Amino acid sequence: MNNKLIPESEGIILAVSKGRILDQALPLLERAGICPKEDVNKSRKLVIETTRAGLHLVVIRPTDVPTFVEYGAADLGITGKDVLMEHDSSDYYEPLDLKIAKCRLMVAGLPGVEVSNNRIRVATKYAKIARDYYAKRGIQAEIIKLYGSMELAPLVGLSERIVDLVDTGNTLKANGLVPMEDICEISSRLIVNKAAMKTKHALIKQLIVTIEDSLR
Ligand code: ATP
Ligand code: PRP
Repeated sequence: MNNKLIPESEGIILAVSKGRILDQALPLLERAGICPKEDVNKSRKLVIETTRAGLHLVVIRPTDVPTFVEYGAADLGITGKDVLMEHDSSDYYEPLDLKIAKCRLMVAGLPGVEVSNNRIRVATKYAKIARDYYAKRGIQAEIIKLYGSMELAPLVGLSERIVDLVDTGNTLKANGLVPMEDICEISSRLIVNKAAMKTKHALIKQLIVTIEDSLR
């Protein structure tokens, strides 16, 4: 699918995740000479022009980024590796690790709470990742899907474990939880629509090289 708002001849759309990733992506893009022409945190506009001719930004929820890119509604996207791993498909290219919004995906719980391998409840926003993680270890886990505040689950008896992102460890500590197992490192990635990589190759390749240079 081609995005209709921006004709192919007129440029490309980069979808950037709102929130924490946007805060860290903006300085990175600025180093690459790409500045939004409006304040992305204040503007109500959904498609924002940048100082790089032909490059438009859309700022959307992190979990929506792979969907926009796979359908070609955005040519490129920036979102967390956690979001990409949890997404149902991976029909896009992932040329760059932007090394921003770094954290770790971990298993955590209350200290001293033992669990049996046949009876463990795990609360998480990352149901797919958690299911794969326990299945690989031959552990029968009941995955309880939550949409936030995972740290609360062990405190109120909803689960024995959580799978969540950990950075400073302050959120775990503040709730009396401890990190138990490391699943993987997380950072934000640049992803690219497969068809656009062919049809808009020069524009996209140039942009990837510019962003890659600004990482150094
Ligand atoms: P949504 O509103 O769509 O659920 P969210 O609330 O998870 O998004 P953020 O908290 O801004 O949005 O997190 C977005 C991304 O930032 C995560 O997917 C992850 O890649 C990264 N991230 C989340 N928490 C941390 C953290 N504590 N330290 C570093 N990076 C983080
Ligand atoms: C994330 C994550 C943890 C916290 C970890 O939540 O879900 O709760 O950060 O970071 P820390 O180890 O530095 O404390 P976030 O602050 O994004 O809030 P959310 O639950 O609304 O996504």
